[in-house]
Amino acid sequence: MKALPIVGEWGVGSGPPRSAPELRVAPDGTTPHSPRLATLVRAALLADVPGLEALQAPYVATGDLLPRSNYDLCRHIKEWVVVAEPADGAIVGCGALKIYSGELAEVAGLAVRRDRQGVGLGRALLEALLTQARDHGLARVFALTRKPEFFLRLGFVPAEKEQFPEKVWADCARCPRQNCCDEIAVALRL
Ligand SMILES: CC(C)(COP(=O)(O)OP(=O)(O)OC[C@H]1O[C@@H](n2cnc3c(N)ncnc32)[C@H](O)[C@@H]1OP(=O)(O)O)[C@@H](O)C(=O)NCCC(=O)NCCS
Repeated sequence: MKALPIVGEWGVGSGPPRSAPELRVAPDGTTPHSPRLATLVRAALLADVPGLEALQAPYVATGDLLPRSNYDLCRHIKEWVVVAEPADGAIVGCGALKIYSGELAEVAGLAVRRDRQGVGLGRALLEALLTQARDHGLARVFALTRKPEFFLRLGFVPAEKEQFPEKVWADCARCPRQNCCDEIAVALRL
């Protein structure tokens, strides 16, 4: 069985692309949209949950990501996309699209392992989630983040948290930082 055809051709059982994308920054210092990097993004599987937990743990510790239980990850695994290291299958990138209504979804849990940052994987993950959002016919996506510059660079604009009460109901109540939230809201019209 092949993984969900979100982006690219790297489905379950098909193994990595014949020549794995090179994980490096272009000579001009940018990380332009790379169709080859996009082929590494695939739908997450239940078997990826331990890898998701390992990838997210350091960012949960720094407060950059919201803590998510094993139960929560398993229950909502279909929301997640991942990038697995071609060499050993380790999960080195992840992100989720959390749909709140027929109009609105949140990009959440976006993370790239430190030694794989800066080569375009974050962009590839985000673009895969935006493709999903467009395929669903959604009108707008938002993110609450301590890294707004990343999202602004990729077309999002600053927004007010109050525009997204769905988020407050879903996550903020169980967040350890609920009374001292330092996350910035950003949004993108699709
Ligand atoms: C944010 C994060 C996912 C970015 O991943 P990445 O793979 O390093 O990002 P990319 O290499 O795809 O970068 C894409 C563009 O964003 C820029 N960018 C990446 N991180 C940035 C940051 N922290 N501040 C400003 N710009 C940033 C890059 O320079 C690049 O721009 P360019 O193409 O014009 O050169 C990664 O730094 C991370 O995992 N951070 C910790 C977890 C976190 O904070 N997640 C966000 C919470 S939702």
